[in-house]
Formats: sequence, C-alpha cells, structure tokens
Amino acid sequence: MITTIELRKKFLDFFESKGHIIIPSASLIPENDPTVLFTTAGMHPLVPYLLGETHPQGKRLCNIQKCIRTGDIDDVGDSWHLSFFEMMGNWSLGDYFKKEAIEMSFEFLTKNDYLAIPLERLSVTAFIGDNDCPKDIETAFTWENLGLNKSRIHFLPKEDNWWGPAGETGPCGPDTEMFYHVEDIQETSTEDFVKLNKRGKFCEIWNDVLMEYNKNNEGKYEESKQKNIDTGMGVERTVAVLNGFNNVYEIDNLKPILNKVLILSGKENKTQEEISLEEKKSARIITDHLRASVMILGDEKGITPSNVDQGYILRRFIRRSIRHAKLIGINEKFCKSIAEVVVNIMGPIYHEVEKNKERIFIELEKEEEKFLTALGGGTKILEKKLDFLSKAGSNELNAKGAFDLFQSYGFPIEMTVEICKEKGFSVDVKGFEKLLKEHQDLSRKGAEQKFKGGLADDSVQTTKLHTCAHLTLSALKELIDSNIEQKGANITAERLRFDFNLDRKLTSEEIRKIEDWVNEAIKDEFKVNMNILTLDDAKKTGAHGTFTSKYGEQVKVYTIKGKSGKVYSKEICGGPHVEDSKGMGTYKIIKEESSSAGIRRIKAILE
Ligand code: ALA
Repeated sequence: MITTIELRKKFLDFFESKGHIIIPSASLIPENDPTVLFTTAGMHPLVPYLLGETHPQGKRLCNIQKCIRTGDIDDVGDSWHLSFFEMMGNWSLGDYFKKEAIEMSFEFLTKNDYLAIPLERLSVTAFIGDNDCPKDIETAFTWENLGLNKSRIHFLPKEDNWWGPAGETGPCGPDTEMFYHVEDIQETSTEDFVKLNKRGKFCEIWNDVLMEYNKNNEGKYEESKQKNIDTGMGVERTVAVLNGFNNVYEIDNLKPILNKVLILSGKENKTQEEISLEEKKSARIITDHLRASVMILGDEKGITPSNVDQGYILRRFIRRSIRHAKLIGINEKFCKSIAEVVVNIMGPIYHEVEKNKERIFIELEKEEEKFLTALGGGTKILEKKLDFLSKAGSNELNAKGAFDLFQSYGFPIEMTVEICKEKGFSVDVKGFEKLLKEHQDLSRKGAEQKFKGGLADDSVQTTKLHTCAHLTLSALKELIDSNIEQKGANITAERLRFDFNLDRKLTSEEIRKIEDWVNEAIKDEFKVNMNILTLDDAKKTGAHGTFTSKYGEQVKVYTIKGKSGKVYSKEICGGPHVEDSKGMGTYKIIKEESSSAGIRRIKAILE
C-alpha cells in the first residue's frame, strides 16, 4: 500500500537527488493571465521561465501543483477523471532534454527504491510526426534502449501526443506519455491500445513534454530559443494504480470523502452491486466537485460563487453537487459535512485550506441555501416543460425555457443540459447564449473559451501593463492605505485588471491622484532593475510581495526608479517587465468597482 503522502515524498526526493530545487505550489488562480481561469498544469506558473526569463531557483525545478481542469467535467464520475487534482512535475529550463528526461522518468517508474513498476505494466506513446514537427524517433529509441519492448511503444498524432500551448500561443511540443496497464494486457496493436485506453484499461500516469516549439500569433510553430522539459504526473491516478485499484476514488485522500457521501445518502452498507451505476456516478461527482470547491474557496485569492469567471465555475461545482445529492437521496444540507472531511485531508498539505476553513464553510452553506429552494421549484417547472414538449412531439428545450430556469431558479445552463439529456431532450444552447448576452454583460461562450485555456502572451503591451500593475500597488499603498495588498491581477494587451483589499469605494479624487502618481513615475523616466536575493534579504529591503514560500529561497526583486532618484516600486515578482518608461504612454483608470466582499477592482489602460 502506498499513500499519497508517501508518493509525494518519493517524487520530490528523487528529483532533488537529481539536482532539482523544490518550488511551492502556485495559487489555483493564475497571476497576470487573462486567458485561463485556473491553473491547469504545473507548467502554468512557469511560462515566463519557459519563454526564457531566468528562474531565481535555477534550471532544474520540481513541485506538486494543485490544478483544476473543467475541460473533462463530463467525464468526471468515470474511473480516472478529476476536476481538482495534484500534479507532480519536474522541469528543465534549457538544461537537460529528451534523453535525460526519459531516463529519469524510467528510473523513477521502475526502480525498486521508487515506484518499482514492472515493465509488463508499462506502455508509452511518442509523436508520429506531421507538417509541423517530424516523427519522434529519438524518444522511441530511448525507451527501447531502456528495455521497453517495441510493441509497448505507440506512435500517435497531435491530438494525443502533443502538449500545449495551454492557450492560443506559447511554449509547446511533442510529448511522450506513460501508461499503466490496469489489466494484465500484453501485446496490443496501436489501434487496440487506443481502443482499450478509451475503456479505462490503461491509465495515463505521466506526461513528459519535450518543449521545443513556440506557437506564435499566426498559429505557426517556431523552434524555441530554449529547449525545455515539462512533465506532469497525476498524484491520484498514480497512487490508485500502484495499489491495484481500478479507479481513483479508492485512494487514501478520496475514499473518506466518498464514504461520507455514501453515509449521508444511507448507502454506506450497500455492496458495490447494490448501488446502481448512476448512483455510483453521482456519489463520485459530489466527491470530486466538493473537493474542487473546497480547494477553490480555500485558495488565497478569495474566490466566491458568482455568475462570472472562476466564481461561475465554483457555482457550477456546488450546484451540480447539490443536484446529484438529491438524486442519491441526500435530502438534508450536506455540503459542510463533506467539506469538513476534505479540509481534514487537504488542510495539512495546503495550509491555506486549513487557514480559510471558516470562509469555506460559510460560503458553501450560503450557496447551498440559495440553491436548495430554487432547485425543487426549478425541477418541477422543467419537468412540466418537458412533458409539454414531448406531447407536442418536440425533443428540444428552447432558449427561452433554458433562460427562464437560469434567471428564476439559478440553473447553470450546463445543469439544464445535463438534466434534459438524462430525459432524452436537447437544449438550444446557442439561443440561450444569445439571450444571455443580450441580457447581461457576460458571455458564457467567452468564459468557456477563456476556460479552455491559454497563457498570457508576452507582447510588449502586456509587459508594459504588468509594470503598471507594480506602480498601481505602490500608488495605492502610498496614497490610500499602507495595508493594501495585491489580491489578483489579470493583464491583456489592452488593459490591466488589478484587485486589492479595501472595504470602500475609491473617490474620483483618489482615482485621479493614483493616475497622477503613476504618470509622474512615467514622466520621471523610470528604469526597471532586477536583482536576485534570498527571500529574507528581499523582505529586509522592504520589497512588496506576498511570497510565502517554504522552499523558494531565491527570489527576483524588480525595482522601479526614476531619474530623480525616487524609488517608485520594489516588488518580488517573476517578471517580465519593461526596461524603462520609454513609450509607456499615459496611465488611465477606466473603472473602479467591487470584486467581492472587501476586494476592489481597478481597470486601467495605457493611452
Ligand atoms: N504540462 C503537461 C501536462 O499537463 C505535463 O500534461
């Protein structure tokens, strides 16, 4: 039996022994990245370094990153897919490449001190080649040399064997994926491998991305200046297969949550056979979604359920859990008691979850209360509508019907689609989106696109606004309140969005003063300097930044200093930043609003 704690330790020990520095998990909410709502992989916070920025900890890094993916949300409830998961990763930033990376993976997977997986249980894939990038013979050859039989190495196209960019542009490349044979299957053709994999007979546990390309704005793959390795190994899946389980819900940090769900639904003493497939799926969905909700609510960024961005995804997780709870006979309020189990398991690893547990419980209960009454009424209305439709010979719920449910009962459209699908109906989702767009300032489609992901581009304009984010923080601290901290930033080439703690609105006078302050710095022809310091030294210099790393001893400090000698900002940050104020233009705040309780949001542009 291997536990999640033991696996994490083995992984970090192994890569430390190979010269890697352990870095902390970043927030689930990406910093400075407008194109994705959540951190979807360990590489995400490292994009600037994959693009060539120097990382203060060096060229070999490893960590365990908390991740959220909703692209596979419809698969949740099967054996292997989770919305929240932990990804173990090792990175080479222009240091070792393909051969060494594969050799390290092989050693960790097969050697007795580590995972001791027998070769009969392993298959791997490599990129088959296309117009963008040639067939990856070297990868296959490396695996073969290590002792893997040729019949265990499958060549597959881009859909399967290419990773990234996480958004429209950025670092990417062919990958080699490692699969555990859940069942004792020996020889397979590539065709059978693909088929059996779809049926859960193999489980992908690790992915080594051989990042040698950069997808540019025109959609072309350019060879990157720096060749990187980016790997990701799923904690939950790996622990499951090593223990011989055929699904992730049996592992030490998920089973207690699932058990609690079963207890609350009065099904804890039933055998597997006595629980229907649908009931099992519902219990798994609740387990997964509430765990994800706790991790989002527990994150330092203070996300709460809402109708936009991360808050909307959180709302969907919670509301979908509540609906599935009804389906398996949980009729009382239940979110908090599940969340308590999650906090007990995740709190000792992710301290922010323990620290924020009261907020987690309060927000969950609030959202549960809000939705519980509406759910009953909405379900009745929907059933009536469907009954009417079927009598009229139609099997599609129209846009207005779906919109009414959203508007009056808070049914996320995805939930309406799910319920209708169960009853054999489709939904006019396009029409719904049109109505929604007409109705409010939120395009769900836009949110989905954002969600599919992407990374901040490194355009000059984005970099300028990033430097302005530092100036904004300094201005707020100096002019408004020295206790103000950055609570999130989101930057596109067009605008800067900056969240900070303050329990009141800024006056128009204050806004003008902040603009003047930043424009003063620009007029003072500032220069930006970067120094690498230990975290302690950085703090001693008075640098801003909420860097609370246990491991991150070396940090980058960016200093913005004017010609007059005035230091406008000193902040711990990964970069990138402009070198000086040349061509910055004029800083202008175009909006100041509330973002959530106690958090204000500024939108600013450069004209
Ligand atoms: N970034 C790669 C993945 O998520 C390792 O699979």
